[in-house]
Amino acid sequence: MTLQDSAKGKVYFIGGGPGDPELLTLKAKRIIDSADVIIYADSLVHPSVCDSAKPDAHIIGSKTLTLDEISALMVEAASEGKLVARIQSGDPSIYGAVLEQMRLLEAAGVAYEIVPGVSAAFAAAAALKTEFTVPEVSQTVIFTRLEGRVAMPRGEKLRDLAAHGCTLVLFLSITRINGVVRELRAGGYAEDTPVAVVYRVGWHDEQVITGRLADIAPKVKRAGITLQALVLVGAAFDPDIRRINAAQTTASSHLYSSDYTHLYRRAVDFGKSAAAQRNANDDREG
Ligand SMILES: C[S@@+](CC[C@H](N)C(=O)[O-])C[C@H]1O[C@@H](n2cnc3c(N)ncnc32)[C@H](O)[C@@H]1O
Repeated sequence: MTLQDSAKGKVYFIGGGPGDPELLTLKAKRIIDSADVIIYADSLVHPSVCDSAKPDAHIIGSKTLTLDEISALMVEAASEGKLVARIQSGDPSIYGAVLEQMRLLEAAGVAYEIVPGVSAAFAAAAALKTEFTVPEVSQTVIFTRLEGRVAMPRGEKLRDLAAHGCTLVLFLSITRINGVVRELRAGGYAEDTPVAVVYRVGWHDEQVITGRLADIAPKVKRAGITLQALVLVGAAFDPDIRRINAAQTTASSHLYSSDYTHLYRRAVDFGKSAAAQRNANDDREG
């Protein structure tokens, strides 16, 4: 009989957010509060996310463990009927290495569920006070990384993706910032393209560095940042993006515009609304 059949223990993959425990979801916190075993990615997840654990919860850092060791811990605990919280950094779906853990749980017949979390990418947008998708600037976001020990799939090298010129969020790449800049140039980004680096967003020692493609690498070197940082590229990270003139003339969404009709609100200026009305079914969220 499998564990699922006998409704025994269960594993929850939990998005632990970028570091600030207040960015845990209510569901994540509820599971952490009642977990018997907590295995957390202690290289990137702040230990305070475990502060509300039961006094007798078994709390284990996973940074020195192998996949097999982590899986063995999860399977053993679940087979004893325990509730296991496996806390990943940010959101588990982005470079979370969760698929291989799920495969092993499936093979062992262990029930599991995923609780999404706040990716460092979204916390970085908040720290930079910007939006990844700015009308007339970029309507597309690419989450990617510089090629490392693992080869990128065809068409996904940074220079290929850079050719789109849209908002780019680079994980796992800060150690090779010179390589990042080289690839971005090869992909066609101009020297004055805004680039931001956010180090340990949500932690007490968070650092934000802003610059341009031409000067970001020396700025990062000077700051001594070598890990746990995101590189964010594109016009959305222009420090002037929030200035009222720029925002009103080129970079405002139709969504809250008074002359734009959508599913939930009619335009104030009905003369302009016919074309907008045609778009209403495509742009439903208000
Ligand atoms: C294995 S990936 C995990 C990403 C995570 N699943 C997420 O959604 O944020 C680790 C990389 O995410 C980025 N990262 C994770 N936490 C971060 C933080 N608090 N601040 C800045 N970057 C972070 C860094 O690029 C780091 O190298």
